[in-house]
Amino acid sequence: MNKSLEIPVVDPFFYIDAETRIMLNYFETMSHKNPINILVTGKQGSGKSSLVRQFAAVYQRPMATFQVGILSEPGQLFGEHALVDGATHYRPFLFPQALQTPGCVIHLEEINRPEHPKALNMLFSVLADDRSVWIDEMGLIKVAKGVVIFATMNEGEEFVGTEMLDPALRDRFYTILMDYIPADVEIEVLVQKTGVDRERVREIVNIVNKIRGHSETPLDVSTRTSLMIAEMVAAGASIREAITYSLQMDREQLEAILLALHLEKGLLDDRKTCKYILFTGELDL
Ligand SMILES: Nc1ncnc2c1ncn2[C@@H]1O[C@H](COP(=O)(O)OP(=O)(O)O)[C@@H](O)[C@H]1O
Ligand SMILES: [Mg+2]
Repeated sequence: MNKSLEIPVVDPFFYIDAETRIMLNYFETMSHKNPINILVTGKQGSGKSSLVRQFAAVYQRPMATFQVGILSEPGQLFGEHALVDGATHYRPFLFPQALQTPGCVIHLEEINRPEHPKALNMLFSVLADDRSVWIDEMGLIKVAKGVVIFATMNEGEEFVGTEMLDPALRDRFYTILMDYIPADVEIEVLVQKTGVDRERVREIVNIVNKIRGHSETPLDVSTRTSLMIAEMVAAGASIREAITYSLQMDREQLEAILLALHLEKGLLDDRKTCKYILFTGELDL
């Protein structure tokens, strides 16, 4: 069970704004003196999980991630009763181990959406200043020195009101708000991460930004999605194909948007005719 927690590898192409970078450095310094919790909010695909991983990687800390979104009861993260040779034993999970690993970065994903509100109860005590929690089966668990607890949550206009975090919980966190990276940085990320040439990446980002800013149907296209588009182009797809298959969007609507954007003819012309072929073997090009 005691598999040791790994230090993530640094993503060489991860960008954040300078101010946030400086704050993270304060948090790192503070964490060696006092317990610290950091809440990262922002839209989906804006780099929240990457930021937590990068923090662990840069500061050479072991890391473990836990999905709060699927929790339905308080003790669920800690362990379970299992039947071994007819007798029940308590089997601790990774969470108590991570809590007791000095300097560990603990990432709680989707902290605003547990299936059952009570599921957060035991987390409250872990996040509190005394940093300990009582588990009947394990006794008092004390959080190790230097442990940093990150929580991430998707937060956008569409979440306000329904998915807000309990103020008592939010109160225990420093907060970082992640925004989608600006176009010039996004171009850099796509070029470096996918190897697609700069000119085509520019075109992708240009189209994506037009879709984002489209007056009638503005669509949140995340950094994750533009990366998906560029990855597809890197694999040989046309920009049109890549966009069509990466956006969760009605084809006709996309068509209308692309047309309305007066995109260069070449881009609109590479549409394949709708011919059906067997999908039973290798693709013969
Ligand atoms: N600022 C950034 N710099 C480089 N890559 C980024 C950045 N933001 C997001 N990405 C990339 O986009 C993808 C989605 O990011 P992720 O951290 O999973 O988003 P979130 O957790 O907010 O949904 C990842 O592949 C990540 O590497
Ligand atoms: Mg995430």
